[in-house]
Amino acid sequence: MTLSRWYWSAAAAVTVLILLYYHYYTTTLLGPPSGRTPEGLALGILGFAAMLGALLYSARRRWIGRAMQRIAVDPEARKDLKMRERRALEQLQALQRQVLRNPAGNPRTIRQQAKQILEDNGVTRYIRARVTGGRGQGMRLEISRREWVGRLETWYYWHLILGCLSVVLIITHAGFRFGNLIATLAFVFLVGVVATGILGYFIYWFIPPALTKVEERVEKTPEELREELNEVNHRLASIVQGKSELFREIYQQEVSLPGVSLHPSWRWVFGPAEIPRDTARPDRLRLIVREIPGHEQEDFREMIRLIFQKEKLEVSLYPQLRYDYLLKAWLALHIPLTAGLMIFSVIHIVTILYY
Ligand code: HEM
Repeated sequence: MTLSRWYWSAAAAVTVLILLYYHYYTTTLLGPPSGRTPEGLALGILGFAAMLGALLYSARRRWIGRAMQRIAVDPEARKDLKMRERRALEQLQALQRQVLRNPAGNPRTIRQQAKQILEDNGVTRYIRARVTGGRGQGMRLEISRREWVGRLETWYYWHLILGCLSVVLIITHAGFRFGNLIATLAFVFLVGVVATGILGYFIYWFIPPALTKVEERVEKTPEELREELNEVNHRLASIVQGKSELFREIYQQEVSLPGVSLHPSWRWVFGPAEIPRDTARPDRLRLIVREIPGHEQEDFREMIRLIFQKEKLEVSLYPQLRYDYLLKAWLALHIPLTAGLMIFSVIHIVTILYY
């Protein structure tokens, strides 16, 4: 079973248990269910704890990664570690190929061999080798980098599942009754957080692989593309200076194409994932060249070359900027909703404690 399926099945089982418990406690109750009964209180406390647990993921993602980067390590020791890591990876990859050729081998032997490689190179704390699948059932050796305080992927699943479970816990805590304004607002924010969380799950599923594909095709990072684009814009601006009116007019017309601004805007969310190149442009410019005064023709040709280069850079840069923007737009929804949830939950709890 894959990691995600395992977690979702566990979450479904826990949901059934919570609902069974709720059913049992309400059938033995004399009055209507409420957050005030001992069972209701326990469900509320558990729901709040699940929310805090889900929130921990954000701390793991933001701060621990950065804190790790700051730990100073002697350069010689780092070089030595890198070398040992490389050697271990080569040996593990050889073992991986051996497993691929012979998937019916003994998983225990492979596990021991992988462990030995990691120990011999002194990298057990940094690299993980895991045997998946049984003998003859597509056995594989998975190699990954160990992450401090556990893998981010595992944290992410806990985050998702605790978020979803907190909805079930809070609905049962409230006894399916929503009258208290503050408590109901906290619940509405909770539903908003979980709904955007599920949306984010799909966004993260589609966007990073799509982005890697674009980057591989272009073979340049967005920063490199931006730098080149700035340089081209600079050269274009200096070329048009002091030129005839016709020259500048054509420049103005052509420079605004392909009609997509690289400044982020809400239109990007609904806009196309990629922008097409202006295929009519080469013919159009070839015809115009003849109308340009003779002494400006050389610069005009240089301008055309730069405009083509600009278009190519913009067409490559746009999908990368757009994907990046979509991720940020999504976070701009998820984070304020989480903040609202925390604020209203705390007010709800404090008012319950004091009144
Ligand atoms: C330590 C955690 C919590 C405690 C001790 C707690 C306590 C309570 C109590 C005592 C009530 C009954 C209020 C009444 O009868 O007037 C209640 C109701 C409720 N609570 Fe909580 N709560 C907690 C967490 C939360 C959280 C995190 C949410 C939402 C995100 C929430 C949402 C609600 C809702 C929707 C109701 C029902 C309101 C109603 O009956 O009109 N609670 N809670």
